[in-house]
Amino acid sequence: MKTLLKLYNRPTVLLCIAVCMFLLLNKVNAQQQLVVETSNNALVLQQDTARHMHMVYLGKKLNNNKSYTQIQSQYQQGTDYSGSLDAAYTAAGTTNLAEPAITVVHADGNRSLDLRYVSHKLERIDDNIVQLSVELQDPVYAFRVTLYYKAYVKEDVIEQWTSISHKEKGSVVLEKYASANLYLKAGSYYLTQYHGDWAKEMQPETAPVTHGIKTLDSKLGTRANLFQPSVFMISLNKTATEDDGDVLYGALEYSGNFRTDIELDHLNNLKILSGMNNYASPYTLTPGETFVTPSFVYLFSSSGKGNASRKLHRWARNYKIVDGHGTRLTLLNNWEATYFDFNENKLAGLIRDTRKLGVDLFLLDDGWFANKYPRNGDVAGLGDWQENKQKLPNGIGALVTEATNTGVKFGIWIEPEMVNPKSELYEKHPDWVIKQPSRAEYYFRNQLVLDLANPKVQDFVFGVIDTLLRKNPALAYLKWDCNAVIYNAHSSYLKNQSHFYIEYMRGLYNVLARVRAKYATLPMMLCSGGGGRVDYAALQYFTEYWPSDNTDPLERIFIQWEYSYFYPAISSSNHVTDWGKQPIKFRTDVAMMGKLGFDIVVSHLSEKELAYCQQAIKNYNQYKNVIWQGDQYRLSDPRTNEVAAVSYVNERRDTAVVFNYLVSNRYEAGSKLPVILKGLDPAKKYRVEEINLMPGTTSALGANTIYSGDFLMNIGLNPLVNSGRSSVVLVLTAQP
Ligand code: DGJ
Repeated sequence: MKTLLKLYNRPTVLLCIAVCMFLLLNKVNAQQQLVVETSNNALVLQQDTARHMHMVYLGKKLNNNKSYTQIQSQYQQGTDYSGSLDAAYTAAGTTNLAEPAITVVHADGNRSLDLRYVSHKLERIDDNIVQLSVELQDPVYAFRVTLYYKAYVKEDVIEQWTSISHKEKGSVVLEKYASANLYLKAGSYYLTQYHGDWAKEMQPETAPVTHGIKTLDSKLGTRANLFQPSVFMISLNKTATEDDGDVLYGALEYSGNFRTDIELDHLNNLKILSGMNNYASPYTLTPGETFVTPSFVYLFSSSGKGNASRKLHRWARNYKIVDGHGTRLTLLNNWEATYFDFNENKLAGLIRDTRKLGVDLFLLDDGWFANKYPRNGDVAGLGDWQENKQKLPNGIGALVTEATNTGVKFGIWIEPEMVNPKSELYEKHPDWVIKQPSRAEYYFRNQLVLDLANPKVQDFVFGVIDTLLRKNPALAYLKWDCNAVIYNAHSSYLKNQSHFYIEYMRGLYNVLARVRAKYATLPMMLCSGGGGRVDYAALQYFTEYWPSDNTDPLERIFIQWEYSYFYPAISSSNHVTDWGKQPIKFRTDVAMMGKLGFDIVVSHLSEKELAYCQQAIKNYNQYKNVIWQGDQYRLSDPRTNEVAAVSYVNERRDTAVVFNYLVSNRYEAGSKLPVILKGLDPAKKYRVEEINLMPGTTSALGANTIYSGDFLMNIGLNPLVNSGRSSVVLVLTAQP
């Protein structure tokens, strides 16, 4: 082992050992157990004598690979009478009486399903990824289900999905079709879930799970996360803290209707089922057709939430988000500066302001298009993607040239899935619009959703983007918005309306895949009137997302904090706006905890404020890689402290950026205690420097103070936050 460690670097050796152990173990238990191991965890499936597959373990990896066979006998919780509660994929209609993962109506009308092991395959996809697939078949019907478990070893992440097919003599109707089915055993369970609305995204709630079923779901069709996102956490035995406790993170990689059932059964075990929502969506599966569910991604941590989110962030940067290790463009957006009221002249001024501020790109928001029904408000024009001749007589091309000549890049807003009834598109193609044929239309933000189930609509939406980019090859950024939910769900294209929600999403992903096939690295912001569509399926096509229209920095501290459990800082678009009462420094410091942008009137800034912003952008450019690629530590929770603190530490542990904010306006509120830092090297000495100071002010911390990592992680550091210093950004640099 020592020699091996000398020959290769430690992580490579450990990874090889983990993969070898995994393969070995799988051989040992070939008939009884299938084990998926990651660097810290294990998921164990077990076959019984009738070849039913059970999920017997999900938790910390055990040292001895034979020990997994001894797990089950340690649980004496009584009987479930049929031995099906812990099914690896719970079928309906036979002996299972709990919430099913799958419900079918066979071609002959029979509603029962019994899934038995047929075979399994273990593939090593690369150095870090192993994939287990388990094929199950009904002994009576020619009906098959394959369960997939894709394990990212280093990151401890598993993606699970299911494919369903049959060779029956007619179509089978799938009434429920979960992606994943987990079964956990613990003394007690605590669910952390989220709810929200426009400008109130990601409000957390944590509560003990009681017996029965708790369902988290969305039936909104588009903008599906508006009231509830699919992300959640389950703590086992006690509520996990940042550094302590067993916790499972889960999220469905899907941007449409989702459904997660969390059922605490009479044995006190917890079944988790997650997948597309089957609401109004029985799916008719023809013989030979394969129905593939989206992936459910999950991650177990036995050392609290901080470890879990850092692992998930790494996984997201390595495998999901477009250009996860690439760069991002800082920008000036005109939405709140102008709303719909602009012309070429005004925009030329804003382009010059972009340069003056020192950001990379000018982003032109809503209002630039439509002529018969000009987009001068949110009541008209959506769908008519031609430049408005009055506002932009020389087109987008002239603006792109203006930006290029000014030395900045140019980006543009689109909302291509939508249509205003007051538009030429609606007049020409009323059949492209989602609405009930003989009922009154009902609008969300005065608009309707286009029917992406229809391939012609998919071509149109792709064409909108393709035309923009072909005509303006220098366009450097797209903000893709989506501001309406689906009312009156009906497609005049589809024959089977119960396929509507599924086909809409297939259509959307088809368009996004076409855009990405042609424009692989174009930066694109996923915006859905705020965070209505943030999930890991959508993020496969986007470089960043817009967490909320609420940019009040105090609110943003809370919103960004909650998103940070699931999504990395590099993907969080944060804009400095005029929302809130905090000074420009506070607003900018908060926006720096992600991808920085501005949406202000630069000419309204005082000289000092402008100078502050210009310097802050330079600082950001210097440290952005630490924020984007570093490990994030949530140090002081705004919900329980007067001061919120978050840090980012780079991989070499020689640079850290620490953000501290006052989140209370009570008498003498401030950082009475030091903030205990995390993730540093205890043996290193760090110079502490305060950055982002307003011109003319000096740091209360003094200059060039040096502390050891050991000191900073045990005693901590007081950022001296108080009402006179409500936002403090520190950079820690290891000394040679
Ligand atoms: C909603 C977005 O969240 C805003 O940033 C802005 O782009 C508006 N739509 C434009 O209509």
